[in-house]
Amino acid sequence: MSDYTKIAPTSDLPLANEAKEFLCGSKTICIANVNGTYSAMDNICLHRGGPLGQGMIENGKVICPWHGWAWDAQTGQASQDSRAKVTVYPLKIENGDVLLEM
Ligand code: FES
Repeated sequence: MSDYTKIAPTSDLPLANEAKEFLCGSKTICIANVNGTYSAMDNICLHRGGPLGQGMIENGKVICPWHGWAWDAQTGQASQDSRAKVTVYPLKIENGDVLLEM
């Protein structure tokens, strides 16, 4: 059975083509809104640890605010390094809440 954790009300979700940080237990998660589709990924950039949830969205990717690496919001894959991929978490919205499977 899957184990979803409530992390926020949907009213806290980022606006279209924005990203935002959320706490989920001891982890910080980046939720991105790419043209109305939400996705959740680890907040820590694998380049040098930048906070992805403080980045912008460009061409469907989350742009790290520190040095500009671009991360695919659906797959977690970095454009700059084929070996760099952050964990993406299943996200669902139910009864006005945002739920993540960690
Ligand atoms: S820390 Fe993210 S691009 Fe460098």
